[in-house]
Amino acid sequence: MLSLPSLSSTGLLLLAASAVTPAAGFEYNTFDGPGFPSCHNVSRVYNASSVADVSSLVKSLTASNSTSVRVRAAGKGHMWYDTQCSDAWTVIVRTEELSGISDFDLAPGADSGSVWVEAGVTFFQLAEYLHERGASVGYTLTNWNITFGGSVAMGAHRSSIREESMVAAGALAMDIIDGAGDVRRVVRDDSDEWLAASTSLGLLGIIARIQLKVYPDTKVYAKQETLEEKDVLDGDIYGLIAPYATANLWWWPYKRKFHQRYYDPVPANSTAQEGFQNTFSVTELEAVTARTMLDSGKYLATSNMLAEEIFFGLWSKPNFREKTTNEEIKEWPVYGWNYDVLIGGLYPDQKPEWDYGLAGYTLELAFPVTMANKMLKRVRQLFDDELKKGIVMTSTYRSGINIKFGKAYYDLLGQVTYNTSDGADWTKGAIMFDFPSYRPTIGDHKRFNEPFYHKVANTLIDEFPCRPHWTKNTRDVFARAVKNLDPDHLRRFNAVRKQFDPHGIYRSVIGEILGFY
Ligand SMILES: Cc1cc2nc3c(=O)[nH]c(=O)nc-3n(C[C@H](O)[C@H](O)[C@H](O)COP(=O)(O)OP(=O)(O)OC[C@H]3O[C@@H](n4cnc5c(N)ncnc54)[C@H](O)[C@@H]3O)c2cc1C
Ligand SMILES: *[C@@H]1O[C@H](CO)[C@@H](O)[C@H](O)[C@H]1NC(C)=O
Ligand SMILES: *[C@@H]1O[C@H](CO)[C@@H](O)[C@H](O)[C@H]1NC(C)=O
Ligand SMILES: *[C@@H]1O[C@H](CO)[C@@H](O)[C@H](O)[C@H]1NC(C)=O
Ligand SMILES: *[C@@H]1O[C@H](CO)[C@@H](O)[C@H](O)[C@H]1NC(C)=O
Ligand SMILES: *[C@@H]1O[C@H](CO)[C@@H](O)[C@H](O)[C@H]1NC(C)=O
Ligand SMILES: *[C@@H]1O[C@H](CO)[C@@H](O)[C@H](O)[C@H]1NC(C)=O
Repeated sequence: MLSLPSLSSTGLLLLAASAVTPAAGFEYNTFDGPGFPSCHNVSRVYNASSVADVSSLVKSLTASNSTSVRVRAAGKGHMWYDTQCSDAWTVIVRTEELSGISDFDLAPGADSGSVWVEAGVTFFQLAEYLHERGASVGYTLTNWNITFGGSVAMGAHRSSIREESMVAAGALAMDIIDGAGDVRRVVRDDSDEWLAASTSLGLLGIIARIQLKVYPDTKVYAKQETLEEKDVLDGDIYGLIAPYATANLWWWPYKRKFHQRYYDPVPANSTAQEGFQNTFSVTELEAVTARTMLDSGKYLATSNMLAEEIFFGLWSKPNFREKTTNEEIKEWPVYGWNYDVLIGGLYPDQKPEWDYGLAGYTLELAFPVTMANKMLKRVRQLFDDELKKGIVMTSTYRSGINIKFGKAYYDLLGQVTYNTSDGADWTKGAIMFDFPSYRPTIGDHKRFNEPFYHKVANTLIDEFPCRPHWTKNTRDVFARAVKNLDPDHLRRFNAVRKQFDPHGIYRSVIGEILGFY
């Protein structure tokens, strides 16, 4: 049992009170809310208000006996599945109020500069701050309501072969609160300490602040083509992506088509348009229609076929509005400011789809881009194997199956690292197969032909040197994919981890599956 020193802050006193009388842990949820736990056994949720506050919290928790203490940071909960914590009683430290932005430095005419953000700063907050100062973070992005701490910790990324697109690739330095509650500054260099911190899975400690690279703001265009499936499967996939600042494919397996989306800068004075992308919001009517159709698709393939037909049609049009007037933009290409076009956010009159109870399952694996054709053809074959049995499988997600790409970036646990013992050539970059699917709101919540999804995951993991995205896979997928990770990278990572967190207070089920404890 813990006995804590008495502390001045109310939060710490409350924490101390519950720590001395351990109750059954409660669930902590992902962005999908109740019924979607990211942790099963949480003893307390603590809202961090400053870096010093988190540091003293960790010191107070570990003061008497570190070995039974478990702590995990929490950003915006934009993760899937129950892989945030370990299953032991865990204190969650929410970083939402750790949202300071400081030391912005971009000299007039300079190619790049830097800024410090606290861990809870979201992409949206920083984009707004930077745009007001004529700057942007370039292409090291993820979606709007996600924190820099959560993205850097878990190796999140955008989609690009030409430009750096791992969020961590934009980090120059970071402060990590270690297992003793001390703040350690780690600076970009080629040490194992930096290479471990670069994709740390939160296992070194709580990332408190990050120094990021910034660039002069740009306008960009977004354009989209529709391609026949065979032209992609037999085509030059690298050539569809590598020429652009950022690009990806969306696959419509029932329609046997792809969308190719790509973006590049244009001179700021070349267009007055201010396009704003909507990535995840829908109207209530759209949400209810989709939910009804997809729920019936749990039993009827025809509902899923109709859904893919409708989603494909909608996704062929620009999902953009003019920011200044809120009017729909109907023609490709679309132009606007960097962040608004690359990510955007919610339209003022809509809500994110998950607020209407539309939830999904997902699976995301990265492969060497040199195997892109082989991998996609293997997935095609798996779809066709079902067809031979008379079962039509489709994409049940509003933007199809997301095929993303990543420029090679060296660290120990990142999805796009290279020089690994699998002998595969990761230096040309990676292709990611991101397969979201609708989670029926009814019955057992299993999907139409549920075993198919597991077959796809298992086949890809067993037949390819692929690596899991760290927040988009189930425990089973991680356990199966460990064999594809470089044992020497794991060993080097764990050596750094032991220095930062010798008692394993920041452990998660992922760290356990990777064999670190
Ligand atoms: C709608 C949506 C779109 C997405 N788009 C992309 C995308 O384009 N590319 C991509 O790669 N991923 C994407 N993701 C996944 C997302 O980037 C990651 O799951 C990210 O880790 C979520 O960050 P968060 O701030 O919500 O953190 P949380 O979900 O709260 O936490 C995620 C994990 O990070 C740890 N963590 C959080 N903050 C810290 C910290 N300060 N220090 C140490 N550990 C920490 C947590 O303990 C947890 O294990 C998307 C997710 C959603 C829901
Ligand atoms: C932490 O903040 C959230 C909202 O920001 C609030 O709902 C929650 O009650 C707070 N928790 C504590 C323990 O103060
Ligand atoms: C610390 O806690 C662990 C696990 O609860 C226990 O096994 C160990 O004996 C404790 N050590 C001390 C010094 O109290
Ligand atoms: C962002 O995430 C928070 C959860 O921390 C949630 O309350 C809020 O509604 C989200 N905002 C949007 C626009 O999705
Ligand atoms: C929750 O954690 C406590 C303490 O670590 C442990 O005794 C208990 O078994 C855990 N409960 C579950 C359901 O894992
Ligand atoms: C746009 O700006 C560039 C320099 O930034 C200048 O050379 C060019 O003439 C401008 N074009 C227009 C149409 O104003
Ligand atoms: C990759 O491996 C080679 C040979 O072992 C080594 O010389 C090189 O430094 C490695 N590159 C990186 C980035 O570690």
